[in-house]
Amino acid sequence: MSAVADDLKGRDFTRVADWSGDELVRVLDLADELKRAHAAGEERRLLPGRTLGMIFQKPSTRTRVSFEAGIWQLGGVGLYLSASDLQLGRGETIKDTGLVLSRYLDAIMIRTFAQADVDELARNTEIPVINGLTDQAHPCQALADVMTIRERLGRLEGVRLAYLGDGNNVCASLMVAAAKLGMHFTAAVPPGYEPDAGALDAAHTAAEDTGAAVRVVHDAREAAEGAEVFYTDVWTSMGQEEERERRLRDLAGYGVTDELLALGEEDAIVLHCLPAHYGEEISEAIAHGPQSAIWDEAENRLHSQKALLALVVR
Ligand code: CP
Ligand code: NVA
Repeated sequence: MSAVADDLKGRDFTRVADWSGDELVRVLDLADELKRAHAAGEERRLLPGRTLGMIFQKPSTRTRVSFEAGIWQLGGVGLYLSASDLQLGRGETIKDTGLVLSRYLDAIMIRTFAQADVDELARNTEIPVINGLTDQAHPCQALADVMTIRERLGRLEGVRLAYLGDGNNVCASLMVAAAKLGMHFTAAVPPGYEPDAGALDAAHTAAEDTGAAVRVVHDAREAAEGAEVFYTDVWTSMGQEEERERRLRDLAGYGVTDELLALGEEDAIVLHCLPAHYGEEISEAIAHGPQSAIWDEAENRLHSQKALLALVVR
């Protein structure tokens, strides 16, 4: 494999909207190659000696382990930094934390609540800042999602995706990525659960260039009709636990069911970022059934994030 081009070195990945469709495809192409190499037992030490700091203000299984294993496989090391153990948890500012951490580290991944905090960190560091999930966005998840769709369907342009459920952080990032890559994205959400207005603007703007269609509807059947990809996520995201009862009531009828799958293409795939709440947005039978690509999707977090790191870390 030829050396990784250096024109993306130093770039932050805080939201999908900041990256062009071509740049996203470069991540996917490298991710495919890294996945192939990994399966063949070929080492790709593209970031020897580099250190990735990973700040977590919310729990994680996939994001933590895929980033930590990924940087290690690239020849570097990952540091798990629980926000409550940092001075950040005692009131040190994000700016000061960022200034200091960038003297030690080569990149920072952060999972937190407010997108504004990720932006503040990125503004105050010279090293790349990667968003590992905020209340508004989950861009690394979107990378793995589109990687999985391309891997399974062989293309992205024109792919019809139905997102069912809460128009949350995962929905917002996937919607923008889909629009940038020329996919047709329909979200079926209850009134009041529409995706973030900023993400909708970014998706509509991207769609003007790529010919993608971006729609938000309130009828799950309308979204499911002819879909090649079904996507869903939990109805109660991290930090929303107090709203759980209301969410369960409002989102009932917006889960992925056999009846809705029957309206899609026969060979449609089902995706879910995980963790799943079985019996709410999806059943265990569908998640582990023949149409599910969920486990490949989870694996692809590793490969797509390795590609992202290799492209942005100096
Ligand atoms: N999909 C995802 O981000 O999972 P974790 O919360 O386990 O990291
Ligand atoms: N929307 C979910 C995604 C978890 C990976 C949350 O924010 O909790």
